[in-house]
Amino acid sequence: MSDYHITSFDDYKKVYTKSISNPESFWETLAEENFLWRKKWNKVVSWDFSKPEIKWFEGAQLNITENCLDRHLEQRGNKTALIFEPNNPDEPAKHISYRELHEQVCRFANVLKSRGIKKGDRVCIYVPMIPELAVSVLACARIGAVHSVVFAGFSANALAMRINDCDCSMVITCDGSFRGNKTIDLKGIVDEALQNCPGVTSVLVAKRINSDIKLKEGRDEWLQPLLDKAAPVCPAETMEAEDPLFILYTSGSTGKPKGMVHTTAGYMVYTAYTFKNVFQYSENDVYWCTADIGWITGHSYIVYGPLANGATTVLFEGVPSYPDFSRFWQIVAKHKVNQFYTAPTAIRALAKQGVAFVEGHDVSSLKVLGTVGEPINDEAWHWYDETVGKKKCPIVDTWWQTETGGIMITSLPGIIPSKPTFATLAFPGIQACLVNEEGEEIKGNNVDGRLCIKFPWPGMARTIWGDHQRFKDTYFTAFNDKYFTGDGALRDAIGNYRITGRVDDVIIVSGHNLGTAPIEDAINEHLNVAESAIVAFPHDIKGNALYGFVTLKESAEIEDFEAIRGEINQLISKQIGAIAKLDKIQFTSELPKTRSGKIMRRILRKIACGETENLGDTSTLLNPEVVEEIIQQRL
Ligand code: WTA
Repeated sequence: MSDYHITSFDDYKKVYTKSISNPESFWETLAEENFLWRKKWNKVVSWDFSKPEIKWFEGAQLNITENCLDRHLEQRGNKTALIFEPNNPDEPAKHISYRELHEQVCRFANVLKSRGIKKGDRVCIYVPMIPELAVSVLACARIGAVHSVVFAGFSANALAMRINDCDCSMVITCDGSFRGNKTIDLKGIVDEALQNCPGVTSVLVAKRINSDIKLKEGRDEWLQPLLDKAAPVCPAETMEAEDPLFILYTSGSTGKPKGMVHTTAGYMVYTAYTFKNVFQYSENDVYWCTADIGWITGHSYIVYGPLANGATTVLFEGVPSYPDFSRFWQIVAKHKVNQFYTAPTAIRALAKQGVAFVEGHDVSSLKVLGTVGEPINDEAWHWYDETVGKKKCPIVDTWWQTETGGIMITSLPGIIPSKPTFATLAFPGIQACLVNEEGEEIKGNNVDGRLCIKFPWPGMARTIWGDHQRFKDTYFTAFNDKYFTGDGALRDAIGNYRITGRVDDVIIVSGHNLGTAPIEDAINEHLNVAESAIVAFPHDIKGNALYGFVTLKESAEIEDFEAIRGEINQLISKQIGAIAKLDKIQFTSELPKTRSGKIMRRILRKIACGETENLGDTSTLLNPEVVEEIIQQRL
């Protein structure tokens, strides 16, 4: 068992070295000792990045739900698997034990079978953050159906595209969802999407908001009566190691979303192993990841990783701002959360509201704080550390991607020291490296370059659904024989990685490469700044110049905007150099964001360049209304 749980820095170094010098025996032992297999593999890994073809544990047979549920029943049958915390704090939370979850998954799996779903079929899941979402995911895995979860905030068009791209015959949805003080008519969105999805023959509808919806005869059915009638036991389908487990769509820099395909055995081993160590989960801990299961973070670190470890995982339906900005901390106090994992964008939004919302709640149960999704700026990092963690909780800044399946570069709490704004070191098995534009590896420390991975790891995506060529072109062509992440990174004097942002966001000013993220960090250090985004616009002499969109804190009382502009440029000069000073600084009430909280730079870039007509698709924005304001006030 020893390598499964890393407990000290020496241990980490030993395990890491083993994982690199002899990956096959390393992963073989981990897989053998910590999971339930129906049949052992013939080969641990075979790979050829030029095709690319990657196989882990070939020949093995298993079912991931037996690892996440059945095997815990004997010892943890009554342990809480899921804590469901509703949107409305007055509604009681639900504690679902491993035994109950197992039964619910079995019933749901039997319903899927009764509606003709079999191994290999694709099922689209468009369900808000309620227990049925986790249960439906596991029910698909139980019978070998491939789930494709679509975040229940996407529009009808986005949903239809995803349903059609992978030929789903079934959609699982809900009458509607609660989000803060709003309700969302999910079933209406599904009905609209399905007008363009001729392949869908069955729709199962969970009930959540009790709205008056219409069921289409012959296609739609209420879920609950079917579950009530279904048998509580369902044998798990035998899956091959490399059978697809799920498809999850992620946006590329161009073109339509990519359906990343993850397979069974490697994904299971990798998410379970990373979960255990990155969060240092121990048996009686309560773990909470605030992501939505509609994103990879929710797949890997709300559902599969925690459940494979027999953990208690919180599933929160609501938003951090409802009924007020103390909601997260109220939940931490209520369920005595030990590990808390969220996104920098949430941290910044909460920091903007001040410390009072945290201070009213007892968050002393917290042991580990995590962040994911984008580089965390220095100011947000320190706010998280001081205000939430009271300087007692290590912060794990976890770098990874939809494509990587699990966490790749991260500190480990109490083991690998954190360093503000640095993801720090590669996880065991991950051979990270930096390369220059010619594709040559940059060795040594105090260097920066493009972040690549040299060797396969079990959790990596295997293809893009229906477009293997695009998989090859996007990730394996730029730098021969390496997986290219699309991110830039630097390595400090002792080998810690800092992710500096997408390389597509690099801006060249007067021949100097500037990453947007460090400039934004510098700006965000200004006491009155809540958030910022930098883009390039053409400049006669310098080639490119920098345009900054800056949101000030609500509490800021500003009289002299010119003075703030000057101060911002001073901060940049100080942190990076005069070369990185902004030519234009526009103050905005908000920045346009995707529903996952990422700033939509594509739109800002166009506005900065004066292209205000063809902004492309803004339907996936969380706050499309802000775009018009930004155009009006353009400098
Ligand atoms: C960015 C989310 C800096 C990065 C799991 C990556 C990060 C993209 C971090 C993947 C981090 C994620 N520090 N940047 N800790 N984590 N990113 O597919 O640019 O939604 O390529 O996966 O987010 O986003 P995705």
